[in-house]
Amino acid sequence: MFPTQRPRRLRHHPQLRRMVRENVLTTNDLIYPLFAVPGTGVAVEVKSMPGVYQLSIDKIVEEAKEVYDLGIPAIILFGIPDDKDTEATGAWHDCGIVQKAAAAVKKAVPELIVIADTCLCEYTSHGHCGYLEVGDLTGRVLNDPTLTLLGKTAVSQAQAGVDIIAPSGMMDGFVQSIRQALDTAGFQDIPILSYAAKYASAYYGPFRDAADSTPQFGDRRTYQMDPGNSREAIKEIDLDVAEGADMLMVKPALAYMDIIHQVKQASNLPVAAYNVSGEYAMVKAAALNGWIDEERVVMETMLGFKRAGADLILTYHAKDVARWLD
Ligand code: PBG
Ligand code: ZN
Repeated sequence: MFPTQRPRRLRHHPQLRRMVRENVLTTNDLIYPLFAVPGTGVAVEVKSMPGVYQLSIDKIVEEAKEVYDLGIPAIILFGIPDDKDTEATGAWHDCGIVQKAAAAVKKAVPELIVIADTCLCEYTSHGHCGYLEVGDLTGRVLNDPTLTLLGKTAVSQAQAGVDIIAPSGMMDGFVQSIRQALDTAGFQDIPILSYAAKYASAYYGPFRDAADSTPQFGDRRTYQMDPGNSREAIKEIDLDVAEGADMLMVKPALAYMDIIHQVKQASNLPVAAYNVSGEYAMVKAAALNGWIDEERVVMETMLGFKRAGADLILTYHAKDVARWLD
């Protein structure tokens, strides 16, 4: 008896494999995160993220040119301010680090899409993503007062030339209030990429070194999602869609492939996956030890995100991926 079905028939030749491949990755899918710091000529490598640097604005501009030349369509900017306070002034000030970096990048590389992470944690003295009651040491961020500051932050980022606003603080109603603030200020055409399903994750550790945003007390579990939940992710997605989100993000990515898949089924908006700092750090550590083939592991992971349903991938590997795709 011969088998009637032989799936291997379509695997024997590389060209044939190429013809029947269901998912592909292109540079169009990539978004590269950058960390802006004050000063000039500054490039400080993040210890837990080899190959990732805190960069002053002049260096950010150089990097933006390189990213654009590699064919990557977008960057996402995070900022580390000189001063932090309880009002997160550095987040919404006209002369804030992200505002200045965005303006400089748009001037030098107008075609590169600049996304701003819209949150307060890099700018608050306590490191939480929003406003706290004076004396509160639990980290129970006050939702509605935070919305006002997020609206202000988004508008000042848009005024600086940012193309896409990406709120990441998991406050209830943040898409709606940012949408209203942008519209009122005349930015009806600036899209919102919502960090819609963002989990309270240990995989953010290296990022908090990079962005100097570790909470001084408590943790983020009163606003970020519980890792045990998936139906709740769909609830978050539905709310953000109703509030006017233009794109949806799932974060982290690797341990949440099921969520990426479900979000893709649950909405018709583009879905982004954030391949976070801890995921990057693990791959880098193994690669630097010679324990894995970095290129193959990273490319397989990226394809996995695509297969799960991601339309866009935020990743610290983006420049390498673009080179490998070439
Ligand atoms: C905070 C924020 C975080 C990341 C981006 N913006 C996580 C956090 O500190 O809770 C994580 C990104 C990464 O780990 O790569 N709003
Ligand atoms: Zn935050």
